[in-house]
Amino acid sequence: MPLDTMSIRKKLLAVFAVSVFFLVAVVIVGMTAIHSLRDVTNRIYEETFLESYRLMELKGDLEDVRRLLLTALITGDSARLDEIEQDLATLTAAIDDAFAQMLGPESRFDPEARPALEGMAATWRAFKATRDDEILPALREGRVGDAVELARGIQEQRYNKFISIAGALVEHEKTETALATHDLAASFWKAMAWFATISLVGLVIMLALVTSISRSVSARLRAIADGLSRVEAGEFDVKLDESGDDELARLAASFNRMTAQLYEDRLIQDNYVALLRMSAQETKEKNAELVAARDELKASNRELHDTVQELKRANTELADMKAQMIHSEKMASIGLLAAGVAHEINNPIGFVRSNLNTLAEYVRNMETLIERYGEMEAELERSGRDSSLSLIEDIRTLKKELDIDFILEESSHVFEETKVGIDRVVSIVKGLKEFAHEGESGTTECDLARCLKNTIKIAWHQLKHKAELVTDIEEPLPMECNPQQLGQVFLNIILNAVQAIPERGRITVRCRAEQGRIVVEISDDGQGIPAEIRDKIFEPFFTTKPVGQGTGLGLAIAYGIVKDHRGTIEVESEAGRGTTFRITFPAGSDMQALDADCVHH
Ligand SMILES: Nc1ncnc2c1ncn2[C@@H]1O[C@H](COP(=O)(O)OP(=O)(O)OP(=O)(O)O)[C@@H](O)[C@H]1O
Ligand SMILES: [Mg+2]
Repeated sequence: MPLDTMSIRKKLLAVFAVSVFFLVAVVIVGMTAIHSLRDVTNRIYEETFLESYRLMELKGDLEDVRRLLLTALITGDSARLDEIEQDLATLTAAIDDAFAQMLGPESRFDPEARPALEGMAATWRAFKATRDDEILPALREGRVGDAVELARGIQEQRYNKFISIAGALVEHEKTETALATHDLAASFWKAMAWFATISLVGLVIMLALVTSISRSVSARLRAIADGLSRVEAGEFDVKLDESGDDELARLAASFNRMTAQLYEDRLIQDNYVALLRMSAQETKEKNAELVAARDELKASNRELHDTVQELKRANTELADMKAQMIHSEKMASIGLLAAGVAHEINNPIGFVRSNLNTLAEYVRNMETLIERYGEMEAELERSGRDSSLSLIEDIRTLKKELDIDFILEESSHVFEETKVGIDRVVSIVKGLKEFAHEGESGTTECDLARCLKNTIKIAWHQLKHKAELVTDIEEPLPMECNPQQLGQVFLNIILNAVQAIPERGRITVRCRAEQGRIVVEISDDGQGIPAEIRDKIFEPFFTTKPVGQGTGLGLAIAYGIVKDHRGTIEVESEAGRGTTFRITFPAGSDMQALDADCVHH
């Protein structure tokens, strides 16, 4: 499979496999080299070093044998000789054993050294024979001189020969060791060469693989990055090379699809932008038209709003005027009615009153007569005549039956009460007449502040028990008025305030000139006027007070008087918190100049 068509994952796996292969090869080569080095080392040890060591040992043993022999020669003591012979036998056995091994089938010696070894063995045998057969018997027999001579002979003939052969063999073994060490170095360097070669080849192959993969991957990644930069810069007709079957080829293919889609979208977007620009222009124009229309609409709306407000105001004024007119008409018709009733009652009450006086006079006369009859009765009784006595008895019985004493006693009360009642009717009729403007209406120039203070003095007797009085009266306040009538108005309002305070409270009287008018305010913190009766308080005979305590004419008369003075009278009240009556008059004497309406609730 060519490298270019492989996926990046497969490429990386291939690099990994090659690495593993070379690693295994290096390990195998290393192990083989170590194995062969171990063999060579073993060989050197067994074939050269061990044999040399044996030879050296043999040589040492022989030295010991010679030394023992010399000792035996020097001492010449037979006891000591036994001992030496025993040691010699042990050493001799060891040397024989060594030769047997060196020349035996398991010998590791080089075959070339075999003749020398056999020579050494023959020399040893000869040495042994001379020693055992000749020197030692000579010593036993005490022939020390012979023994020394014999020993010198074998020293020169056998021992030295033996030593020279052993030295030659040792030299031979040294040469062998040098050769084996050379072999060992050669094997080592061979292994190293293999190792280096395999490593180098592996490295080169890996390098080639990695370079090729990274070069192809980075070249294609660079192409993709370039493509992306161009797309970022707004260039959408970019095409990347899609050849190959790896991830980057797939990435390039999806990049190409994406740019194609973006290119299409861009075309559509350009079209939309053009359309939007056109419609934005149109919208702008429409918007300007709409703004103009809205401004016009706003202006007309404002006008409409102003008109509506004016209409509302006019409507409210009209409603107020209508209410005032209805009220004025109602009061006027009540006034007419009251005037008629007053007139009708006035005449009969006039003669009832004068007749009552006359009748009272008559009754008093009758009383005087009855008193005189009483005296006559006493006189007749004293005379003692029967006829007179029975007459007196009859009269007394009749007196009792008719309850004359009681009648005489009560008649004066009856007349008194009837007179009070008639006076009351007369005052009501007078009030009705005043309400109907039929009373005195002459006016004079006077100070309204003085008039108010005088009224307070008159009311003081009733006021002081119920309320604390607060006054704020500006002086002087001159105006053309009927001071008696206005005094009556203020008195009624102050007394109403006193009567509205349940236990103890405060009454405030204020009077000032304000914007061409004189304003009088009388307030109390009494029970207040419930809203449902506030419209009725100015009507004649409307009262909430018990029978006999109020006629309900006070405010009706006040209303009539204020109206006569071209003034207004208003009431503000909150049930449970108190009431304020506000009366205004035109200031100064020009009363005709102002055509004020009378009442506002
Ligand atoms: N300051 C006030 N506080 C509470 N109610 C009041 C006050 N002034 C007047 N009124 C109410 O108005 C009604 C009418 O008063 P108006 O003065 O006309 O008649 P009156 O006081 O009842 O009787 P009169 O004045 O004839 O003695 C009163 O009965 C009372 O209910
Ligand atoms: Mg009253």
